[in-house]
Amino acid sequence: MRIDILTLFPEIALAPLGESMMKRAQEAGIVEIKAHNLRDWATGRHLKTDDYLCGGGQGMLLKPEPIFAAIEELREEKTKVILLTPQGKVFRQELARELSGLEHIIFLCGHYEGVDHRVIEELVDLELSIGDYVLTNGAIAAAVVTDAIVRLLPGALGDARSAVDESFSDPNILEAPAYTKPIEFRGLKVPEVFLSGHHAKIEEWKKERAMERTRENRPDLLE
Ligand code: ADE
Repeated sequence: MRIDILTLFPEIALAPLGESMMKRAQEAGIVEIKAHNLRDWATGRHLKTDDYLCGGGQGMLLKPEPIFAAIEELREEKTKVILLTPQGKVFRQELARELSGLEHIIFLCGHYEGVDHRVIEELVDLELSIGDYVLTNGAIAAAVVTDAIVRLLPGALGDARSAVDESFSDPNILEAPAYTKPIEFRGLKVPEVFLSGHHAKIEEWKKERAMERTRENRPDLLE
């Protein structure tokens, strides 16, 4: 898989992808990730990438010309162009799985008040938000989405089971609480059931606690 991130802040997008599993996935050739500075496609004496809103209003918008030039240079036949924006469809694990089947993604990162709408109409296949809050910069969101996709690629996780046996495999139930050693820490004990070695009972306990946690933290998933 290939991922190109188009942003005014390539370092922000790449920083979280240069460590740990994301670094190993790239070294193993499972994914090729590049970040490009949109300014490299800007023209004119000041290499301007943004401008004032037509019709007035607060803030600046990314201009269409450098974005069109960059995407026309980077895209290929099977490329999907995804704009990171709080106005997009909300990203969920199900979509991460779908996107992990693609050959090439270009993430276009919004900044300021967003991008000129002609970019969305002509170039963007999907507008994507990582949640109902506003970040300063779409490059942060691009790193989040990239991480969620790349960890699903075959070979990216050391233990392949961990991608299956986790929250959102059943998208409507959260994972049960988990414990490690020591068995007793500051007087706090690991639940008795884990010491029994009784697998059916442990599974039953986990199911109950998973439901309880979902009711408590994410009642919306049970509706
Ligand atoms: N840019 C700013 N906020 C964002 C969000 N929540 N998701 C994606 N891109 C964004």
